[in-house]
Amino acid sequence: MRHLSIPLLTDKPVPAIGVGAMPLSDNRPDGTVIPRDQAVAVLHGAFALGMTLVDTADIYAPDGYGYGHNELAVGEAVRTWRDGRDSIVVVTKIGITRAVRNDVDVWGRDGSREHLLRAAEASVERLGFVPDAILLHRVNREQQPFATTVENMLAVRDAGFAPRIGIGNVHLDECHVAWEVSGGTIAAVENERSPRYREDADVLHWAGRHGVAYLAWSPLGGGDDARRLGDLYPEFRAVAQELSATAGHDVTAQEVALAWLSASGSGVVPIPGFTRGQTAYSSARAARLELTADQIARLDLSPAGPGSVFPDDED
Ligand SMILES: NC(=O)c1ccc[n+]([C@@H]2O[C@H](COP(=O)([O-])OP(=O)(O)OC[C@H]3O[C@@H](n4cnc5c(N)ncnc54)[C@H](OP(=O)(O)O)[C@@H]3O)[C@@H](O)[C@H]2O)c1
Repeated sequence: MRHLSIPLLTDKPVPAIGVGAMPLSDNRPDGTVIPRDQAVAVLHGAFALGMTLVDTADIYAPDGYGYGHNELAVGEAVRTWRDGRDSIVVVTKIGITRAVRNDVDVWGRDGSREHLLRAAEASVERLGFVPDAILLHRVNREQQPFATTVENMLAVRDAGFAPRIGIGNVHLDECHVAWEVSGGTIAAVENERSPRYREDADVLHWAGRHGVAYLAWSPLGGGDDARRLGDLYPEFRAVAQELSATAGHDVTAQEVALAWLSASGSGVVPIPGFTRGQTAYSSARAARLELTADQIARLDLSPAGPGSVFPDDED
């Protein structure tokens, strides 16, 4: 695995490709969720392949009753990992609320100090250790000025729930505010970026200029679109075919997408989600792909998709 140095996020080596743990808590088409031991095995497989950064969140769960489901799995996987907890960069997220009322999953956002402190404490308890960073998952733009939300995240850090904080699903003006309010200590931005969705180039460049990690979520476009990536974005398949001729194995359009994201900035870490060893292996292999400047330019210019996987007005 190729590694990056991102001191604002961690002193540990940061893998070029990380793991998004969310699908390990999603309902599968048959209505079941992967059993905990299998989820832990998938994560251990990913760590063994060198993908030693894992992204989770308090709300990742099959339903509102299972709040914290994903953090429990990630916590167990990291605590039982053969190379020890300190070999893994763990990022979790707070600031979205999810509760069951009258048997309906109700989503919201809360950037209040009270909520963020309570949520961070619960995340640490579920993980069983202090994560490397806690990020604000989404911004409640109606609740208060963003500067206040950043101050509240700093309170989370000052209370000892994480040594670093970051922000997610943010616009460039919010990056400026967070940078100023935090005294230049924002560790990471987690925004959506993939062949399908490429609308925040300004945030990507801002992160690169400031040495802030950029965690690219749903880097393959999520779920079914991820599986059909080569059909939906033919230029990625064309580049995969070119690379297959010299790589000695079949390079996939998904691997090209991860390599292309990885090449888009010095601190960019795609965090694909997967539930199978085969897709974990393929994702790790993407870190070894070398794209030419011409291939990157062609991919940059190729048409993007239908928009966000989870639009900003949804949770
Ligand atoms: N901050 C946010 O607001 C936010 C929002 C959404 C997601 N996220 C984070 O981003 C992570 C990734 O997003 P996501 O899971 O929605 O979407 P994704 O990574 O774009 O797509 C996931 C799908 O891609 C497949 N896949 C993974 N690697 C592959 C490969 N190398 N080749 C072919 N298929 C591959 C997986 O299949 P299999 O299941 O069959 O392995 C899975 O179905 C999440 O896990 C979560 O941590 C953050």
